[in-house]
Amino acid sequence: MSSRTDRAFHRSAAEAAVREEPALTRDATPRRYLMCAPDHFRVTYSINPWMDPSKPVDLPLAMTQWEDLRDRYRALGHTVELLTPRPDLPDMVFAANGATVIDGRVLGALFAYQERYAEAGEHRDWFRANGFTEIREPDHVNEGEGDFAVTSTYLLAGRGFRSSPLSHDEAQEFFGRPVIGLDLVDPRYYHLDTALCVLDEAADEIMYYPGAFSPGSRSVLARLFPDALIAREPDAAAFGLNAVSDGLHVLLPQAATGLFDPLRDRGFDPVPMDLGELLKGGGSVKCCTQELRL
Ligand code: ARG
Repeated sequence: MSSRTDRAFHRSAAEAAVREEPALTRDATPRRYLMCAPDHFRVTYSINPWMDPSKPVDLPLAMTQWEDLRDRYRALGHTVELLTPRPDLPDMVFAANGATVIDGRVLGALFAYQERYAEAGEHRDWFRANGFTEIREPDHVNEGEGDFAVTSTYLLAGRGFRSSPLSHDEAQEFFGRPVIGLDLVDPRYYHLDTALCVLDEAADEIMYYPGAFSPGSRSVLARLFPDALIAREPDAAAFGLNAVSDGLHVLLPQAATGLFDPLRDRGFDPVPMDLGELLKGGGSVKCCTQELRL
């Protein structure tokens, strides 16, 4: 009789211990990022639903918010390289769009809108000046890491609003990684990085917002990533998927509060950031950050 009580006690104690333990021990790995200060950031045209040229932008505040992000990366031990902002390119702060770099190979961008077209050349010049030798000028429209996300197994590739489906074959051939094409269907989530974030590339672990994808693409994601963290609409609308993970720390917009606990439950350390002024351009943490994978 008493042994039954003991067993019950032991079982619940063990369960409690399991519950308090984080799911996994995570490790941060040092990263190299490319960013561009928002010296000339403004919203004077609208190429996504977040951009309203009639809404004023507080430029000093945008600068402070961006500097906080840059300094946070550095404080976490990452290297941040800087592009020189150009006065005629107000969206240049969204450095993720300028190229995709894997194994030191650079696939340049080709922007969908004329307003951002010249940014690609600024990125290519930077790569040339900084010792990158394998640089491809793309044949097809692709907006860099805005639409390409890298896991150890796949190159996930968004299409529907910006990057051309033809850029997917081009990226697959250039990087020699299997590309998984994903159809974006909601204009608010016009780039893949507004709806999906790689949390741990080595483990193929991601988080995403299903509502941004076509039914077929949702099924593809569910098959390939059955354990993904599924984000809900309010967190997606707060740009919570526009996040950057170093394997342990996940820097994400502070308003995406619904993601904090699910991330902690998986052993990640959420780092809330305020990039509210840059959201007026339709971008946040990830959009401001291009990862240089060497
Ligand atoms: N205003 C920019 C555009 O519409 C924002 C780009 C955001 N970047 C990103 N990686 N999602 O192109």
